[in-house]
Amino acid sequence: MRTLALLALVSCLQAQEAFLVKHYLQLGDAPKVAAPERLDLLWHAEDREATWAVEVKAGARWVPQGPPAFRRLAAPPLPPHRIYRVTLRRLVPGARVPYRVTRDGQVVFQAEAQVRKAGTHRMAVFGDAAEGTPEQAAIARAVAAQHPDAVFITGDLVYGRGRAAEYRAHFFPVYNGEEAPLMRQVPFLGVVGNHDVPFGKWPDASAYFAYWSQPLNGPALKAGAPGAAPVTAGVHDAMVAAAGSAFPRMASYSFDYGRVHWTVVDSNLYADWEGSTLKAWLEADLKAAKGATWRVVALHHPLFQSSLSHAEDQWMRPLSPILEKYGVDLVLAGHVHNYQRTAPIRFTPTRVGPRGRAVEGTFAVDETFDGRTVTRTKGIIHIVTGAGGAQLYDPWQTDARSSWQPWTRAFVSDRHSFTVLDVDGRTLRLRQLDAQGRELDAITVTK
Ligand SMILES: [Fe+2]
Repeated sequence: MRTLALLALVSCLQAQEAFLVKHYLQLGDAPKVAAPERLDLLWHAEDREATWAVEVKAGARWVPQGPPAFRRLAAPPLPPHRIYRVTLRRLVPGARVPYRVTRDGQVVFQAEAQVRKAGTHRMAVFGDAAEGTPEQAAIARAVAAQHPDAVFITGDLVYGRGRAAEYRAHFFPVYNGEEAPLMRQVPFLGVVGNHDVPFGKWPDASAYFAYWSQPLNGPALKAGAPGAAPVTAGVHDAMVAAAGSAFPRMASYSFDYGRVHWTVVDSNLYADWEGSTLKAWLEADLKAAKGATWRVVALHHPLFQSSLSHAEDQWMRPLSPILEKYGVDLVLAGHVHNYQRTAPIRFTPTRVGPRGRAVEGTFAVDETFDGRTVTRTKGIIHIVTGAGGAQLYDPWQTDARSSWQPWTRAFVSDRHSFTVLDVDGRTLRLRQLDAQGRELDAITVTK
């Protein structure tokens, strides 16, 4: 009996040390809704030989996937480690699919994956996330309690420099830990913020490109090209090698979820969306999404917001006419650490100053939309959902309406929060919830 208990303990310990970061789901390079569907499954393990295998349950059978491939990341201060990846294939759209992982023949992990849905679905959205605060963990638990089908993070994924060591310390343990085991169950999507792609002396910075697996259908930028995320030769070589084809291209991309088309834009200062390469991609992407019921643009730096913090970070505003031309419904941003919602807006820029300064223009504000009785919009609703974990900005403005811009309709900065998007055919419901699941704001938009 004692021997059996000891054997069980040893196998449990072996399972624990089998990986450095537990298995997490990503959309992978699969931008379009498809049948069958696929998902990428990633995990991090020590840099030593092991035989990994992944199986997906189909009916009563376990179907082998893969084999898993790995890239090695040797960027201090973490010891060199392997980033494993396998694409789970032939998945039934919308299903919850059990999967299991073996290492050297022993099952070390199992969970259920939520496959992308073709129709009605729930997406959770928040930004300015992994700073290692108690509020970050509380929001992660509240998100898990909403049972989303996928999660989108609107940038500043990981503080302070998007480093591998920071992901290890306060990203994966929070979003894939026992209290909020989200990443093993649903795909996480995201966009880089200013904290994710720094210029810097840290060899493990910009880990986004090595750790995430998202569509590679963005502007075809080469390393060092204008608009590409900058890295320093001799400092970031290990990260670039581990990123493979994801660097620098994965910074912007698009994908469909249900009947929603998401255009995901790297809004960092080095990316000039007024320049021809990026602008042409954006326009082509939105044009190609004509068949979608809903169009969402997700980026880190908001176009319109009321906080005094970052008030002049308006360099994405000149994109408004293009977004309006192609019928974008919603812009989701972060950067500003609170929750804000505008009325539907149309904006014509009249004076674009140096980047980092105010962009002036004329506003046409849809005053009739109220999200309850009048649910059709004339213009784009801009959401800031940057209250996902980092310290809040300007909490006093929550109750100081006179400090809001005239087109701001909701402003909550006295508590952390996240957005829940429920999309059902031609109805989109947006709710902002706090860490206790209390509703701070809610609107319905219809077509
Ligand atoms: Fe930011």
